[in-house]
Amino acid sequence: MNEITYLKQGGDLSSPYGATFAVTYPCNLRELTQTDCEQVRQWRNTCLETLRTPYLLTEQMQTDFYHTTVCNRNANSRWWAIEANGELIGMTGLTDIEWENGKAEVSLILNPKEIRKGYGEAALNLLLEQAFAFMGLQNIYGECYECNPAVSFWRKMIPTYTTTLPQRKLWRGKYYDSLYFSFMRGEVC
Ligand SMILES: CC(C)(COP(=O)(O)OP(=O)(O)OC[C@H]1O[C@@H](n2cnc3c(N)ncnc32)[C@H](O)[C@@H]1OP(=O)(O)O)[C@@H](O)C(=O)NCCC(=O)NCCS
Repeated sequence: MNEITYLKQGGDLSSPYGATFAVTYPCNLRELTQTDCEQVRQWRNTCLETLRTPYLLTEQMQTDFYHTTVCNRNANSRWWAIEANGELIGMTGLTDIEWENGKAEVSLILNPKEIRKGYGEAALNLLLEQAFAFMGLQNIYGECYECNPAVSFWRKMIPTYTTTLPQRKLWRGKYYDSLYFSFMRGEVC
């Protein structure tokens, strides 16, 4: 497993390293390519119950997403590939960025063969670092439907704030509540 060590601000101020400490993650974020997008399309098409947009995407639709959104410097979203051992294992992003309000929504998806190995937690921490330490955002929020087992993942990540929103997702004829959560700058990163 590859391990990448970052120096972060904070920690034990009496340490010989001053106000920095080392964090090691099993994966890293890098730029997202069109080839990555096509791979992620195939993964996301297998878990439509987790998505706000629960329809199958074609290769052409995903190519359009890459050109009109990922490659657009003025888009109100930012995207990263998640890589481990030199292989693409997922995609993460910040969507609906509101610069004036300092907030954005989290997006996170892994290769279904790579779940429950700690990559999701690591990728989330790296994403929050991008949001808070590099982009100046204050509040990263998200929503996870109760028909998605990932609700347990988000609760485990200890967001600053959580609440339940009623009847947010229709799946196979039944409405499901959702977990709404937000991470605040200064409390997690
Ligand atoms: C959600 C997702 C990113 C989590 O990534 P992951 O790498 O599997 O999560 P981690 O291995 O870092 O899990 C950290 C902890 O979260 C909890 N957790 C994660 N997935 C869980 C699940 N399906 N059920 C119960 N607990 C879970 C566990 O406590 C886990 O620790 P443990 O494995 O030591 O018990 C991944 O499952 C995924 O891509 N799912 C499909 C897309 C999706 O649903 N995205 C989120 C939309 S809101």
